Amino acid sequence: MIYFDHAATTPIAPKVLKAMEPYFSEKFGNPSSIYRIGREAKSILEEARKTAADILGAESPMEIVFTSGATESSNLGIKGAMEAAAFETGSRVHVLTTAIEHHSVLDTVKHLEKSFGAETTFLSVTREGLADPKDLSKAIKDNTAVISVMSGNNEMGALQPIEEIAQIIELEKERRKKQGIETPLVFHVDAVQSFAFKKISLKDLPIDMLSLTAHKFYGPKGVGLLYVRQGTKFNSQQKGGAQEKGRRAGTENVPYIVGMVKAMQIADEKRDKYSKKITSFTNYLVEKVTAEIQNVELIGPKSNQSRLPHIATFLFKGVEGESVLLNLDMLDIAASSGSACTSGSLEPSHVTKAMGYDDLSAHGAVRFSLGELNKKSDIDKLMENLPGIIDKLRAMSPVKG
Ligand SMILES: Cc1ncc(COP(=O)(O)O)c(C=O)c1O
Repeated sequence: MIYFDHAATTPIAPKVLKAMEPYFSEKFGNPSSIYRIGREAKSILEEARKTAADILGAESPMEIVFTSGATESSNLGIKGAMEAAAFETGSRVHVLTTAIEHHSVLDTVKHLEKSFGAETTFLSVTREGLADPKDLSKAIKDNTAVISVMSGNNEMGALQPIEEIAQIIELEKERRKKQGIETPLVFHVDAVQSFAFKKISLKDLPIDMLSLTAHKFYGPKGVGLLYVRQGTKFNSQQKGGAQEKGRRAGTENVPYIVGMVKAMQIADEKRDKYSKKITSFTNYLVEKVTAEIQNVELIGPKSNQSRLPHIATFLFKGVEGESVLLNLDMLDIAASSGSACTSGSLEPSHVTKAMGYDDLSAHGAVRFSLGELNKKSDIDKLMENLPGIIDKLRAMSPVKG
């Protein structure tokens, strides 16, 4: 198989799997138990928390809450902070996000509007998929309690100006302090796609909450974390035991947490080398596709500075992305028609729509996301077949490309 879908998921790295193994069998204790193997599990859990905190540049390990993945992290962070702010102020609060977030954020915000009566704003983006910090600044209100902006987009790779946005939010916090506005303001970032490529140091970057999921960087599926800066108020969502200091009930998934933190360590060590390698592969792919196929557009930012190294999404005019994928699958080549989380539905992506593409063009989107499983020769193999597939589909299509 040739695998071009690393933005959907990645295989577990052998070192990660090895690190996890003892915690399924001989070291199976529950971290809440008081006898030896329980205490050992607790100690490994706390060691993992400290390592994760150090990698992220957090001030304290207590700022890390382990979860089942980024979907849960973003639900917990955004809903939790909105609830806490509404409770504290006794009034309706506002949440501000972008129109191109992953559904785990977008649908959480929509849920808050419907079920919680929250005020919401979905910022529009440019044709290249970038949010404008000036627009964001203008959209902040006195009752804005949460601002959530993803660092790297999973469908077309745009890197948002998180540093600039963080500065705007810091200024807003100062203004509120001076003017005695009591609504707390929380900045949440979904860093799922960027973590393996772009170092985030929370020492230098004033982000209040950050979501990660392990399976996007060669860790296991079903485990993630939410970073919460000390002093940030949020209500727990999952009720039950007192695990994670009462912030997330449920027995901790020790083997998976160990695996995630090992994967974080490896990603952190390899980041620069990995980014360089994947950038060169993706650049090669983009060059080849745009040179050898007519009427094709790379969507998202054009400059490498503003895009994730591993994602290249093309609009092939006059064809259905899904048909391209089926033809590639017959050759055992795996790619995606956009966000893996919405594939299976034929609805055009909310991301391409927000970037101003019409439904017909959006249907022609195919995302290739590169990673450890790729060699340069995979791109050559793809390019032996892709131009023919596009020609064949265009010849069959009633819509002219
Ligand atoms: C940007 C982004 N955020 C959040 C998620 C959700 O991650 P998970 O399904 O592991 O909870 C994904 C997964 O596709 C993603 O790409």
